[in-house]
Amino acid sequence: MYAFKKFKCPDYNSNLGLFLSAIILLKPSFADNINGESFPSNFIFGASTSAYQIEGAWNEDGKGEGVWDHITHVSNISIADRSSGDVACDSYHKVDEDIAMLKHLGVDYYRFSIAWSRIVPNGNVSQGVNLPGVMYYLRLLEKLERENISAMVTIFHYDLPQALSFPTMFIDENYNSLYVDYARLAFLLFGNKVKYWITFNEPQGVCTSFLEKYSTKPGTDSYTCTHNIIKCHAMTYWMYDSDFRDDQKGQVGIVLNTNWDEPASQDAKDIEAAKRKLLFEVGWYAHPLVFGDYPDEMKTRIRLYTFPWESSRLPKFTDEEKSLIKGTLDFIGLNHYSTSLVSDAPDPGLFRTYEKDLGILKTYDPSWEKTSLDWFYVVPFGLRKILNWLDETYKVPIIITENGYVEDGSPFLDDDRRINYYQTYLSNVLDAIYIDHVNVIGYFTWSLMDNWEWTSGYTQKFGLYYVNFSSPTRDRLPKKSVAYYKKVLKTRRLV
Ligand code: BGC
Repeated sequence: MYAFKKFKCPDYNSNLGLFLSAIILLKPSFADNINGESFPSNFIFGASTSAYQIEGAWNEDGKGEGVWDHITHVSNISIADRSSGDVACDSYHKVDEDIAMLKHLGVDYYRFSIAWSRIVPNGNVSQGVNLPGVMYYLRLLEKLERENISAMVTIFHYDLPQALSFPTMFIDENYNSLYVDYARLAFLLFGNKVKYWITFNEPQGVCTSFLEKYSTKPGTDSYTCTHNIIKCHAMTYWMYDSDFRDDQKGQVGIVLNTNWDEPASQDAKDIEAAKRKLLFEVGWYAHPLVFGDYPDEMKTRIRLYTFPWESSRLPKFTDEEKSLIKGTLDFIGLNHYSTSLVSDAPDPGLFRTYEKDLGILKTYDPSWEKTSLDWFYVVPFGLRKILNWLDETYKVPIIITENGYVEDGSPFLDDDRRINYYQTYLSNVLDAIYIDHVNVIGYFTWSLMDNWEWTSGYTQKFGLYYVNFSSPTRDRLPKKSVAYYKKVLKTRRLV
């Protein structure tokens, strides 16, 4: 859309005036591309973090070792700056400061996660609960409530207790009950202060990137891991439903990560590959949890790439399991950052992994704005497209649980590119709501503050607030985007 649609020309008499107004008329106007509607009054806004990325205090007050403590202490060669989250943002000691930042922003919700090994040091509830860890989350929830900020809590955000690890408990179904016991404990202790529960953050990351690297059976374990996580989710959902929902009145969902995948060409194979990517990433979880089984496309493709004398590497749900898992999402949490172009990959040969079953190649349009991460481009229309796809496919309310911009630390506080990112992505959320009638009910930024960004360590920053990681006091400072987000939340509009 160009400026002449809305721009009212000033009354110039001189030729210079005409010349200038002609230039203004032809120049694409940033503001004009932005949706001018207000966010619905019941739309919720928030900011997100996760325990390992911000808390620090990795071994204080009885906390058990988590898998990331272990990885970063035993061999940190896979971490860009060889760092760890031992101190991170020191949020364990800075609850008041974190809450003051949330309050300043004016968010309706704070999304944070519980570190399993902080409240259950070796992962098994029957072997002991750590009271100081419990008190930390109770205090956080109480203070949030006092400031009128509601809580969305992630039960599991990548940080498995080390005692249940290597490579992960989720490849053994016998361990599922440990997750469900832990979730029950979380509902019992904190549930009267939590409106939205997330069982798992991005389980596909747990079952692919992490697992495929360390497993001796890649291409089999990934599917087993997902199979068990789906059952853990469903058991937890029904447990909440029967034992807690009436009193606590919360909602239970899962968070899935998906960038949008645009076919790289109009070739039928590329169109098919882009669809396959969505089904292997989102459908792998959402199809079972909404419809009761894996997408047919996944079943057929994995069968095709399994040796004829073996049973498919994708496990099957029994009829009983299908009815257990079906209809267990009150909402879908969407973590969305970027978009890629997808084409069909040539046949990979005999060796099978999840990636090879998926069989795609990714590229990027050179006209898209690049960020400091090689997979991350700024493509605002991708958010609108994935919202539409989710809504059409699953018809379950959607909450955008993470969306945000990355940079490598420069510029320091003047993060205009982040403001541009939020403005254009949020505009696409409004388009999805008002033009496409998508049922999207909330938006959370990633992240409240710069934090420990997994294998990127402290080299990549997603925060609205800057954190000084060289200072022992981990001082926080607002970036320019704080004022921007605050204004959006106050006015509930973008322009
Ligand atoms: C994860 C966050 C992570 C963010 C940015 C999401 O996939 O849930 O923990 O920091 O992406 O990479």
